[in-house]
Amino acid sequence: MTSTGLPVVGVTRYVTPLREGGSLPGIVEADDLGTYVCKFRGAGQGMRVLVAEVIVAGLAERLGLRTPRLVALDLDPAIARYEADEEVQDLLNASAGLNLGTDFLPGSFGFDGHVPGGSTDAVRVLWLDAFVANVDRSWRNPNLLLWHGNLWVIDHGAALYFHHGWGGGVTDPGRFAAQPWSADDHIFRDHAAELPSVDVELRNLLDSRVFSELLSQVPDEWLEPVPGADDPAAVRAAYVDFLTARLGTRQWLPQAAA
Ligand SMILES: Nc1ncnc2c1ncn2[C@@H]1O[C@H](COP(=O)(O)OP(=O)(O)O)[C@@H](O)[C@H]1O
Ligand SMILES: [Mg+2]
Repeated sequence: MTSTGLPVVGVTRYVTPLREGGSLPGIVEADDLGTYVCKFRGAGQGMRVLVAEVIVAGLAERLGLRTPRLVALDLDPAIARYEADEEVQDLLNASAGLNLGTDFLPGSFGFDGHVPGGSTDAVRVLWLDAFVANVDRSWRNPNLLLWHGNLWVIDHGAALYFHHGWGGGVTDPGRFAAQPWSADDHIFRDHAAELPSVDVELRNLLDSRVFSELLSQVPDEWLEPVPGADDPAAVRAAYVDFLTARLGTRQWLPQAAA
């Protein structure tokens, strides 16, 4: 039995691919009668992107943003038998075990440039993306949804890219802590001047205890051992170190760098 803080539900049916997404996420139904957008562990980017999704969604919530509820989707590749599309079949076969599910928001639509409720959410999104070094929130690809009159953030697999450099062992948290982040392509870059006015408030919502709680949500089986961190607990601790180090600096705030 694998340890995960996320609720685990079983996939009962693969419904349809979401072709717009680069990672071929798909809509699935599960045995809790829920409908989820499934991010597959067998997709090209590997399981680290799922880890980033869980951590950053948790951070978003702590910062007062809305993001779809997450579950771990247990996939029995036997459902691939009912799938005609060969690419999807391969993906399902490569994804036995726990995958990431984000609650499907029916009737949501893509961001249209108007932030409901003023600029509060926009500044928070910008701060979050600077903190986690998310490069995936541009006008081309906002990864924002509007649902029931509110702004929802999705798709955080491209954040925390430092972990892609862990193949030879856990790298130096100090480097991530000092890594600047550019708001130039960010959909809310025009709000950068407001960052100093929310920085202290948002920082105070986070600490290493919060980071540990978020890491406890991540299933063990997504936390692949690397040299120097050879079990899930050690990998979790490495993430907590990186996030804590980043929280201790301000170079990454676009305003501070200017
Ligand atoms: N929870 C959700 N509810 C409704 N639509 C979603 C949800 N998650 C993703 N989508 C839709 O699917 C698209 C692709 O999902 P996304 O998480 O952005 O994956 P990718 O990494 O492939 O870009 C999104 O742009 C959005 O239109
Ligand atoms: Mg996306």
